[in-house]
Amino acid sequence: MTESVIIHGDIIYSKNMRELACFEDSWLVCDSGASGGVYRSREDIPARYKAYPVVDHSGCLIIPGFTDLHLHAPQFAFRGLGMDKQLIDWLDQVAFPEEAKYADTRYADMAYRMFAEAMRNSGTARALIYGTHHTDATMLLMDNLEKTGLVTMVGKVNMDRNCPDYICEKDHETSLAETERWLKLTAERNYANTYPILTPRFIPACSDKLMIGLANIQGREHLPLQSHLSENEDEVKWVSKLCPWSTSYGQAYDRFGCFGANGPTVMAHCVWSTDEEMLLIKKNNVFVAHCPASNMNLASGMAPIRKYISMKIKVGLGTDVGAGHCKSMFDAMVQAVEVSKLYWKYVDRHAKPLTMEEAFCLATRSGGSFFGRCGAFDPGYEFDALVLDEREIRTPIADLSLKQRLERFIYLGEYRDIKAKYVRGSQVII
Ligand code: GUN
Ligand code: FE
Repeated sequence: MTESVIIHGDIIYSKNMRELACFEDSWLVCDSGASGGVYRSREDIPARYKAYPVVDHSGCLIIPGFTDLHLHAPQFAFRGLGMDKQLIDWLDQVAFPEEAKYADTRYADMAYRMFAEAMRNSGTARALIYGTHHTDATMLLMDNLEKTGLVTMVGKVNMDRNCPDYICEKDHETSLAETERWLKLTAERNYANTYPILTPRFIPACSDKLMIGLANIQGREHLPLQSHLSENEDEVKWVSKLCPWSTSYGQAYDRFGCFGANGPTVMAHCVWSTDEEMLLIKKNNVFVAHCPASNMNLASGMAPIRKYISMKIKVGLGTDVGAGHCKSMFDAMVQAVEVSKLYWKYVDRHAKPLTMEEAFCLATRSGGSFFGRCGAFDPGYEFDALVLDEREIRTPIADLSLKQRLERFIYLGEYRDIKAKYVRGSQVII
């Protein structure tokens, strides 16, 4: 149930990549699921909101909920395991054997229940999530996520070549027919907060005919699409062999019609993108999901995030569970800053490290904009909020600014320190 409430506390959100909006001891209005703005004194609250109940979170930080732009639900099961490999071997030896288990709907339901519960108890309000290629298991994932109150886009994965028989769809016709069946099922369920997103795994695992078929579905149904791009050097070389006519990996997606031309598109990683590929990402308004933990764990490399930001490419953060070991977007922000420092030190002295304001913007306003008006408390934005309790992060320093308190929470806070979570104005149980 969407509530209209006024929350009292120390409110902070991202205005843009450079600036934070800070309101100490202030009032944040939730008006039927949307932000009614922030007010510094009770008297300033407009008369039309004055009757709303006030929830007192004095002394707590109140920030927008996070958007995780990229993670794999079936890989949650083995998070923190199998980190000694690079992408192709990791897929064959770690990810695919686990994903195959989701042919069994009993296993899938049990695993996805655990996953959904963990997502509910996290700082993530919105997420773009991969299932497996199994339609029925992906429906169970969507059913479980719908119960959490989180807003998610979920994909039945398409993969019809270059993977072991036990996990490969028979051919492009089967893969496309299952995609149509899945879309029909999702339409029948009439979810409030769970949306389908087309999910070709990556070009190596998708035949040309499958990619073209998915582009057609995307254009027809006006659906978003997610995939992986230029994550690993061997993968990039593989794509240039599979698509010898292409000038870049991104241009291959574009030739198939899966690079923004037919609907909103997110590409995870973009570690090894060439200048040409970056220009195409920018031109086509493709979002980049930066996944620093995954890029370190699979030794994929360091993504040139400073360059993407300065080109005004749309960027958000992804945990990429399970190549990323942890579902925490707090950790993703810290990792993004850390990797950007190594990139600056070892790769490009002109690529300034990310600031804390930038990392926070990526996790909230910037990534959130894939879902529309969310990730901030501007009036009219969808109301996703976290109430943070800093009591466990003790310090004798009494005069920390709001910005310093946020910075400390990003580095030191845990999901246990989230006192309340609202998504689209509804309180999600923590
Ligand atoms: N590329 C294709 N599939 C995957 C996956 O499951 N994880 C990651 N990190 N990269 C991929
Ligand atoms: Fe991934």
